[in-house]
Parts: sequence; C-alpha cells; structure tokens
Amino acid sequence: MAVVTSIINLKGGVGKTTLTVALAHYLAGEHSKRVLVIDLDPQTNATIAMVTERRWRERDQSGQTLYQLFKDQLDNTRLFSAQEAIMTRVSNVAGGVPGLDLLPASIRLHRIQDKITKIADLDTFRSGPVYALREALRDVLPHYDHVLIDCPPNLGVITLNGIAISRYFLIPVVPDILSTLGVPLVLDRMADFALRAQHEIFGLGIVVSRYRPTSRLHKQTVISMRRDAIPGIHPPIFNTIITEAVEVAEAADVEEPMPSLRQKFGGNGPHKQFSALADEYLRYVGG
Ligand SMILES: Nc1ncnc2c1ncn2[C@@H]1O[C@H](COP(=O)(O)OP(=O)(O)OP(=O)(O)O)[C@@H](O)[C@H]1O
Ligand SMILES: [Mg+2]
Repeated sequence: MAVVTSIINLKGGVGKTTLTVALAHYLAGEHSKRVLVIDLDPQTNATIAMVTERRWRERDQSGQTLYQLFKDQLDNTRLFSAQEAIMTRVSNVAGGVPGLDLLPASIRLHRIQDKITKIADLDTFRSGPVYALREALRDVLPHYDHVLIDCPPNLGVITLNGIAISRYFLIPVVPDILSTLGVPLVLDRMADFALRAQHEIFGLGIVVSRYRPTSRLHKQTVISMRRDAIPGIHPPIFNTIITEAVEVAEAADVEEPMPSLRQKFGGNGPHKQFSALADEYLRYVGG
C-alpha cells in the first residue's frame, strides 16, 4: 500500500511545492518508486512545475482535474475519474520520468472552495466532502509506493482531503523567526484533526528549506530548532537541509527538456541535497 505524506505549512512560500516536486522526482528517478503527486493547491504550482502549461490547459478544458472531484460534491454528480485525471510519466527530464505521475489541480478550484466549506461538517469531520479524495482514489492508491500531497497554505476542506488520506505529514520551514512560529500551529491542528476524525497521522519531520548559509539568523535558527526539539513531541528535524539556490527556482520550468535530474536540479549543490533528502525520507518511512 502507498505511503501517503502531506507536505504542509500554513505559512506561504516556505518551499512546500518545491520540496514535493523534487522529492517525487528523486523517489521515482533514483529509487524507481511508483510515485503520485497530488496537487491540492488552487494555485496549481506543482502541476505547472511537472507538466507544460499547454498540457495542463488541455487537461483543464477536458475537465479531468481535482476541480471536477470537488464540483461533483457540490452538484451531487460522479463525473471525476482518477484514472482519467492522473497524468503519467510527467516531468521534462528525459522525456518524462517513468513512475512519476500527477493528479493535477486547477485554478478553478478557487471558485468553489468556499462553497465546499459550507457543505462540510467541520466539527466532527464525518461528512462526505472531507473524504471525497479518499473515495476517488480507493482503487488507485494500491498502484503506488509513495503519494506526496502538495498542500496550499491553509487548512480548508480541500487540504483536509489530503490529510484524511495521509499517514504522515512533513513540514518545510525557512529558518527565520516568523516561519518557525508556524510549526506549533501545524502540530496543533494535525493533532486536533487526528482526534476528531479518529485518523492517525504522524509528523515525519521538519525540513529546513531555502537555507542561506551566509545568514547569521538562518544559522542561529537551525541551531536553536535542533536544540529545542523535544523528542516525541516535535517531529525530528531532517539532517538534510535544502539551501536557497537559483537552480532550484529554475527547476520549476518544464518547457525546456532536461537530460537528467542532476541537470534539472543543478549540479552538485541542490542535486545532492534532494538526493540525500529522498534517502532520508525513505529511511524514515521504511520504504
Ligand atoms: N531552495 C530554494 N532555492 C531557491 N528558490 C526556492 C527554493 N525553494 C523554493 N524556492 C522559490 O521560492 C518560492 C516559494 O517556493 P514554493 O512555491 O515551493 O513555496 P510554497 O510553500 O509551496 O508556497 P505557497 O504557500 O504559496 O504554496 C518559489 O518561487 C520557489 O521557486
Ligand atoms: Mg505551494
């Protein structure tokens, strides 16, 4: 059965999408795992970082994105098909990475997210809309080794759909004061959901991202995060740190074909870090 992990932080711009997309590439490309990325964010950043805009537009027009799944909830229809919506062998690396699949988002999700909230029961998390994704993926999940969910920076109903199928969550943080302040909030909300929905979800770890080695604040923050982490209460902080590098931002461009992961993610620095991140991830999930 697939190991399902949500990449989450209520703070925006901390590297959730970047980490999700890169980790998925390395799990599929270096470890030959069958990987599904689920883009739960109406911003569609993960989608656009994995398939060309043209392919995404075609898909969006034919209606097979996560928008249809949630629209079905509102209209009481069953038009969404996970099999049809999932795009296989995505990425611009070597004409597409075998085993790397994507369930794409749509910016049209923006329009309906408030309406879905209105029909969901957010006190007990027992009603349909929180479990729409779980129902839709029931037959699909067994075909994957790993599912990574790119969450938007909120805990709305759409995000909860991802949490409801996740065994783990992973929190990317930028090591500055404001970003790290958000971590206890995520832990608190995950614990609350686990309790009320009676669904066990474990904090797999915190990944320091967009680290600037020349910043005294970043250095100090990482030291104090490691020092103050309480085992059993705080998720462990990954040994691997992802530094801020221009190649990482550029890797989100899929219009140009790339021969290899190393070339896409930039030589020794980011390539080595993402490769190490995938190794560490696999060690923690036991896969
Ligand atoms: N290691 C890095 N080096 C350089 N740029 C990075 C790195 N990680 C992320 N970025 C850039 O920072 C910006 C925010 O990153 P990203 O989109 O991954 O964050 P996010 O947490 O998913 O944001 P949001 O909350 O809006 O979904 C993007 O422009 C991305 O290209
Ligand atoms: Mg994002």
